[in-house]
Order: sequence, then structure tokens, then C-alpha cells
Amino acid sequence: MKITIIGTGYVGLVTGACLAEIGNDVFCLDVDQRKIDILNSGGVPIHEPGLQEMIARTRAHGRITFSTDVKASVEHGDVQFIAVGTPPDEDGSADLQYVLEAARNIGRYSNGFKVIVDKSTVPVGTAERVRAVVASELEARGLAVGMTHGFSVVSNPEFLKEGAAVDDFMRPDRIVIGIDDDAAGQIAREKMKRLYAPFNRNHERTLYMDVRSAEFTKYAANAMLATRISFMNEMSNLADRVGADIEQVRRGIGSDPRIGYHFLYAGVGYGGSCFPKDVQALVRTAGENGQNLRILEAVEAVNHDQKEVLVEKIVKRLGADLTGRTFAVWGLAFKPNTDDMREAPSRRLIAALLARGAHVRAYDPVAIEEARRVFALDFADAPEALARLAFVTTQDETLVGADALVIVTEWKEFKSPDFAHLKSVLKTPVIFDGRNLYEPLAMAELGIDYYAIGRPYVQLDTRSDARG
Ligand code: UDX
Repeated sequence: MKITIIGTGYVGLVTGACLAEIGNDVFCLDVDQRKIDILNSGGVPIHEPGLQEMIARTRAHGRITFSTDVKASVEHGDVQFIAVGTPPDEDGSADLQYVLEAARNIGRYSNGFKVIVDKSTVPVGTAERVRAVVASELEARGLAVGMTHGFSVVSNPEFLKEGAAVDDFMRPDRIVIGIDDDAAGQIAREKMKRLYAPFNRNHERTLYMDVRSAEFTKYAANAMLATRISFMNEMSNLADRVGADIEQVRRGIGSDPRIGYHFLYAGVGYGGSCFPKDVQALVRTAGENGQNLRILEAVEAVNHDQKEVLVEKIVKRLGADLTGRTFAVWGLAFKPNTDDMREAPSRRLIAALLARGAHVRAYDPVAIEEARRVFALDFADAPEALARLAFVTTQDETLVGADALVIVTEWKEFKSPDFAHLKSVLKTPVIFDGRNLYEPLAMAELGIDYYAIGRPYVQLDTRSDARG
């Protein structure tokens, strides 16, 4: 099928590459010439496992092209995916200007029946706004909206996890498609069914529903997941106070199939491009409709505070004034397998350490370049503090002479370091672990002072569990 993807961000690129991989003829549009140039010279502007290889393969077969030509992009695809950004406005609601601009262009250059697919995460009711914009553009061209120049707007939210997006797209848990119950909607349904048929090979995973419910489903899914995380983080703080171990509690509750094991890890708070933005946007939508989403307001507040939890532990152990101290920081990206620094807990943590006078030496397997960029912006007004932050190219380099190691992202390569070596190069053998990577007892046996999230602090000499 002939497909156009509007927006070569994270979602657009993954969608485009995966649809080209299964044999479609995909045209990717972006207004950013720089991104298109990178893609046309064989590069990929984001780090996502498997994506670069897939794009190289499909490009070589001529099944994917990248361009800034808006008219050509509209003319190419019978199906037009809108996958542009919806950044939060100042009030937390989703900014739809790029989505509506894409709709305007489709109306302006449409040359036949178009299935317009909202892939970006957009508030309930956006499909109707897209429809109105396209219709008014067609009318301005004097085209009656019939079957020739007709269109249907479909909601097809993505459920891609960064770092596993290609796999999530190729092997989805479910495909949600919101479709109108009219003649144009029927055409759209057939096209979407054909397009997604290869992903339903073993059993049908597609859930057809009305457009508003599909739009809502995306927000409700992310809100539920964010709620689980804030719930576990709040439980971990209580576990610290009462001397329980959140890891054992996690296993204890996860074994109940109604709860399940996934997404129950306490840590330093959720980050990324989706949860913070979507939780805020849903709270905002509720407000506009006269409802306070009290649970989600709390989810957000808990997450905000959780990003300071490691700092509180550091201050409790080393004092409020950290002048002259050096911290090794492992992990900058908001989660492993990505270089995404959006809302990354490392930003708040490092800012707090620098504000208390500390030096920081940070390492991340892929996010250093992106981290350099965001910290330069975050600290544009504080060059003195920024000068105390260094990025180094190996895990080991962070450690030499540092007062403590702080772990912020659970990259695989951090999971079993050479502890004897680590102990010998740190000035003092102290670890503050924001991702519960190690066993408190094993750390105590190695003579390492180990502070985790919601896990007891083990002291071997007394074998007593002090409160972390
Ligand atoms: C998320 C959703 O999972 C995905 O379906 C949606 O399309 C986009 O948002 P993503 O932002 O890539 O994907 O990351 P995810 O793996 O879900 O993690 C989000 C955040 O939650 C990370 O900061 C992660 O560290 C944190 N997290 C996750 C926890 O703190 N504990 C957990 O148990 C799970």
C-alpha cells in the first residue's frame, strides 16, 4: 500500500520503517530539512535498537523515502499517518498546532480518497478537529466532499516503548483502531484491516472502536501505568520507614494475577516523553470537563517528589553541604536503551548535587551527547555549576576518587560490575542506587555502604537492619 508518514520523530520513523519492512511503499515527510538530510545520508536522528538497520534495508529496496515536499507527500499516500509532536502547552494541555497544520496540508493537496490516521497522542475530540480542518480546506478548493475527494479520520494510538519500539510495533499486544460509523469509515476500516493484517497473523489483535474511545484508550493506558509506578514509589518510601523490603513486597503482590509482575519497580520516578505529558494532559482534559482527576494529580505529585528521593538519602548520609564532594553518576537517559533525556530523573538529581556544591562525573552508554545538550540549556544561567559537571566515556572513569557512586538508569552493563575494583577506586565505598540493581546483603558482605529505594540498609557487624 502507499503510505505517507507525517513527522519523522520517534513514532513516525518507527511506524514508517516497520510498515516499509512488511512491503509497503512509504513516504516520510518532515519540515526539518536537517532531519531529512540525516535520513537521506543513511543516518538516523534517534537511538532506537534495530531501527537503523531496518531503515537501511528498506531504503536499499526503495520502499522508504524521506522528503520535505509537502505536496508530494499528500499525493503519495492513500493512508496518511499524522505522527507529529504534541508538546505540552504552558497549562499542560497538548499543543495541537502541528497536528492541525498536517491536516490543513492534506486538505490543501488531497488528490483522492485519504484515510487520515492520528498516530500522535492527542486529546479526545482531536479527530473531529482534524476532520473540520480537512473539510474546510477541501471546500476552499471548491471540492465537494464525496467519495473521490473524500476522507475519513481514524484514531490509531501507538503503544511503543522507547528502546523496544521496533519490536513493539512488529509484535503488538493489541492494535487499537477508532473508526467512524459511516460510509467513509467503512472504507477506512477495510484499508486499516489490510494494512495491519500482517501483524495479526496468529490471532486477531485489532480492537475496533469508536474514535473517541480510541483516543481515550491511549491516555488511560499511560495513566494507569504511571499510577502503578507512583503507587510503588510511595510504598517504597513507607517500606523505608517501617523497615520492609519493597523488592519482596513486589514479588508478594505481583504473584496475584490481578496485579501481575510488570511495571511494579520502585525507583527514582518516571520520565520520558509520554507519562509526564500524558498524565498532565488528561488532568487538563478532566478540568475542562468539570472533573478533578484526584488520583492522577497525586500520581504526578508523588512522581515529582520521587525524583528527589536519592538526594534526600545522599544528604542524610553525607550532610546538606556537598562542597568538595565528587559523585560518580551512572545513567543519564530516562531509561535504558535510549538516549532520550526528556524529563529524565538524572536532570533533577544532578542539578540538586551541583546546587549543593558537589562535583559530578557522569557516564551513560548512549545519552552523553544528548545530555551535554540538555544540561547546557538547563544551566545556561549557571556556568559555574555546569563547570562542576563532567561527562566521561567509561563507567570506570567516573569512579576514581569519587565519594560515592549514584545509579540513576538501569542499563544492563551496570548490573554486575567488578565490585572489588569499584571499592578500590572509590574514595569511600558508598553506593546510592536509584534502581535497586544489587542485593543489600551482598553489598554489606563486600563492605560497601549501600542505599537503595525501599530496601533495608544492611550492616553486617550488628546484622541489624537500619532504616535506609
Ligand atoms: C511509555 C509506555 O510504556 C508506552 O506504551 C507509550 O506508548 C509511551 O510511554 P516509554 O516512555 O518509552 O513508554 O517508557 P516505559 O518503559 O513505559 O517507562 C516509562 C518510565 O517509567 C521510565 O522512566 C521508567 O524508568 C519508569 N518505570 C517503568 C519505573 O519507574 N518503574 C517501572 O516498573 C516501570
